[in-house]
Amino acid sequence: MGCQYFDPCQGGADTFTVAIPKYTFGRGCLSEVGARAAGLGMSRVGLFTDPGLRDGPYVATVLDSLKSAGLDVAVFDEITIEADDRSVERGAAFIADGNFDGIVSVGGGSVIDTAKASMLYALHPPGDFLDYFAPPLGAGKPMPRQLLPHIACATTSGTGSECTSISVLRITHLETKFVLANPVLLPQEALVDPVCAETLPAMVVASTGFDLLCHALECYTAKAYTRWEKQPDPQKRPLIQGANPWSDLAAQKALEIAGTYLERGVASADDHEARDQLMWGASLAGMAFGNTGTHLGHALSYGVTHLMQDITTDGYTVGAPFVPHGISVIVSAPSIFRYTAEAAPERHFEAAGFLDCDLRDAGAPDSGELLAERLIGLMRNTGAPNGLAGVGFGPEDVPALAQSSARQARAINNAPRETNLVDIENIYAAAISY
Ligand SMILES: [Fe+2]
Repeated sequence: MGCQYFDPCQGGADTFTVAIPKYTFGRGCLSEVGARAAGLGMSRVGLFTDPGLRDGPYVATVLDSLKSAGLDVAVFDEITIEADDRSVERGAAFIADGNFDGIVSVGGGSVIDTAKASMLYALHPPGDFLDYFAPPLGAGKPMPRQLLPHIACATTSGTGSECTSISVLRITHLETKFVLANPVLLPQEALVDPVCAETLPAMVVASTGFDLLCHALECYTAKAYTRWEKQPDPQKRPLIQGANPWSDLAAQKALEIAGTYLERGVASADDHEARDQLMWGASLAGMAFGNTGTHLGHALSYGVTHLMQDITTDGYTVGAPFVPHGISVIVSAPSIFRYTAEAAPERHFEAAGFLDCDLRDAGAPDSGELLAERLIGLMRNTGAPNGLAGVGFGPEDVPALAQSSARQARAINNAPRETNLVDIENIYAAAISY
């Protein structure tokens, strides 16, 4: 079943590429960052983190380790919880003035994404901030071949940014997020110390856990890479290349982890097995979507973060309006997978099995319903908002949400089913509450 999904297509891609950093996982590995930075030739390090982590134990461990290795360090922490163009402009100024030969980032996706983009904007400033973004938003300016060596240390079990060549940034004047994707943004090393998961509030574990789950589920059900047009020049091949045998491996394991451990990890900070596994699953899902691309789950989350109003979430110390990324994705997900399952029922059925759905007396035609019910159950059991109504939207908001998300063309085209504006409106309308 799995092989047939990648059958050759006329004019379609016949290669796939895997890019991941040198990767270290394990309790206590944050204390290795100094030796690793020295091994990459760093002598003066710019350390990126956020105000919440700045004076905490993980940054202290990293600073001790860097100093013990004889490295000079300066810290930058002016990063908002949703990485945005202003954080990047501040980060770029920090790098431009700092005379650094390497970067270490310690945090969640916002910190790591800001570090990636800040290097780009400091070392190769464009005329306009949007120049590096793909058209029609930006000019699609080519990125340079090299930035500074970067060690990314993840402290949450969600984005997988430590393993990807992607930086997602909120563009303030457009009030929405767009993606920078280029191999030059891939960190040289990723360090994941699951001790960091012990202090995460339950709602952060839920939100980041849904993010990892959707990364994996969107990768596994994405359009096959062989169905994207062949690009003869390897330098021009997009990172978003569709589902492929590599991402299948990582996505399958990440789905199994989410199915087994998400509810447990949210329920108890003392469940080290669950929280450690979620950290590993987040990296695996990052390794998958960094080489595949997400599809409708993420595309439709952007309308939510663009148009949210007067809404906040427990466990996050940030002013309204704020919906955490993973929640903005999961609220529409049951409706989305009901819709996409029709185009690739076997794939969705396999994914339902990985998520530990009860497959007795069920077949591929039931896969959309199986997945939707499973996701709704996980949302209920982890206290997630119930659909779009749970984050402040009603039926009257559907056209605006669809207009906003329809701009994410590449991700929408990565779905297994061709999807137009009316389809997106229908998906949102069926996602108001479950
Ligand atoms: Fe995500």
